[in-house]
Amino acid sequence: MENNEYLLLMNNISKEFPGVKALKDVNFNLKKSEIIGLLGENGAGKSTLIKILSGTYTLTSGEIYLEGEKVIFNRPADALARGIRVIYQEITTLDRLTIVENIFAGEYLHKGRSKIIDWKGMYEEVKSILKKLEVDINPNTVVGDLTPAEKKIVEIGRAIHKKAKILIMDEPTSALNEKEIDTVFKIIRGLKKEGIAVIFISHKISEIFKITDRVAVLRDGVMEGIVNTVDTNNDELIKMMIGRDLGEMYPKRDIKIGNTVLEVKDFSFRNIYKDINFQLKKSEILCLYGLLGSGRSQLIRAIYGAFPKEKGTLEINGEKVDIKNPVDSIKYFMGMVPSDRKNEGAALLMDVKGNITLANINSLGNGAFLSSEIEKEKAKKWIDSLNIKTPSAETLLESLSGGNQQKVILARWLESGSKILILDEPTIGIDVGSKVEIYKLMEDLCEQGVSILMISSELQEVLGVSDRIIVMYEGNITGEFNKNEFNAEKLMKAASGIN
Ligand SMILES: Nc1ncnc2c1ncn2[C@@H]1O[C@H](COP(=O)(O)OP(=O)(O)OP(=O)(O)O)[C@@H](O)[C@H]1O
Ligand SMILES: [Mg+2]
Repeated sequence: MENNEYLLLMNNISKEFPGVKALKDVNFNLKKSEIIGLLGENGAGKSTLIKILSGTYTLTSGEIYLEGEKVIFNRPADALARGIRVIYQEITTLDRLTIVENIFAGEYLHKGRSKIIDWKGMYEEVKSILKKLEVDINPNTVVGDLTPAEKKIVEIGRAIHKKAKILIMDEPTSALNEKEIDTVFKIIRGLKKEGIAVIFISHKISEIFKITDRVAVLRDGVMEGIVNTVDTNNDELIKMMIGRDLGEMYPKRDIKIGNTVLEVKDFSFRNIYKDINFQLKKSEILCLYGLLGSGRSQLIRAIYGAFPKEKGTLEINGEKVDIKNPVDSIKYFMGMVPSDRKNEGAALLMDVKGNITLANINSLGNGAFLSSEIEKEKAKKWIDSLNIKTPSAETLLESLSGGNQQKVILARWLESGSKILILDEPTIGIDVGSKVEIYKLMEDLCEQGVSILMISSELQEVLGVSDRIIVMYEGNITGEFNKNEFNAEKLMKAASGIN
């Protein structure tokens, strides 16, 4: 079928991996200058669909039409040549190069036919791209000096320079704060004016409503439907995604909070965090809120023994403890789920059950046979309760979708028997149905006397799950709020250093 109303048509797309039908007869389309959202639970097939469109995966069956013409993409270069570009969740700019060098990415302009590089011409070109994007940064700035949002903007600039027709963004906002997200959204709207179509993948439904014209929803590899954003609502989209109503997003939290279990005294390291004092109480969920660069990530790593400190003492249950490294932390029943799970925690070439039981090897009993059985039982429990989509407990972590990999690592620490849990962005990349499951689990853990110190950049989540919030700005604590004082505006102000 051919149809010129559409910039892109993907017809009856199927993709099979060994043992998994990731996409089943999926129809998808995109109009010129349109922003379309792609929604679906972890493992629904979103990344697979865009990897087919970008030539990373070849399809098992189906057809793709671009501007009315049938195309076959066997490798990424084929899709690139037709103006299809992907911006991944992880930032891919090179920190040591300038904006100009990043945007031209090795394909430099030359003066006439000579070998002399035309720096001035490239500078002017980048300047005009940045102007289009309405950002006022010198093109010769070294990218390492930019904020994460600005780096995203450089990636978008690169796509414009390379004459993208379709820009695919796979969870582009997960590392960004509210203000930075607004900047990126403004730029995405600008792309629309340039005639560029955008496919926007996000687990944050509020973002889908802010930015998209239409929304496509995948469930279990099947396209549930494509709807106009103005004609739908939150509940309908969730129902399309998970096949049922969600219920309450956040637990009620009427758990009795106990005495201090963790006390941080005078923690300092250079300008990164300074004279930090706070306490975490038994059964409490305490959230550290702040922008990237506020020092919150380094602080929790320092508590856990994974980042240096110059000064400061730590008390656990009233006793001074000396934690020099993460192994010491485990001795005191303190566990941490890092936010960058791909680099810091996931053993991609190990199977699901091995990953889940990695932190509490000691409890697995004696004898290889026995432990392998117990391992499997434990893994199964978490596969069920966190709804982890995997063919089996013995599947390699590598072949799971991004969100499902994260659930496995989270399960490891929920399984570890920690009394104090430090969670750094526990729900990044996790779909809304599973988020609710994770909040419920956190609630259950607190009921059993576990205390949670967490970081989250998602304001709604911070307000929804915390008993208390501490805000950091440039290494200092600039605000502390109890549940009855929670207020989004005050939080944002404290996080921006405004009193
Ligand atoms: N390379 C692969 N080998 C085997 N199975 C795969 C591979 N890539 C994806 N899958 C499977 O295909 C299905 C769809 O995965 P996909 O990554 O497309 O999900 P997703 O919608 O992007 O999820 P998420 O929100 O977690 O990123 C999953 O069941 C996943 O395990
Ligand atoms: Mg994905």
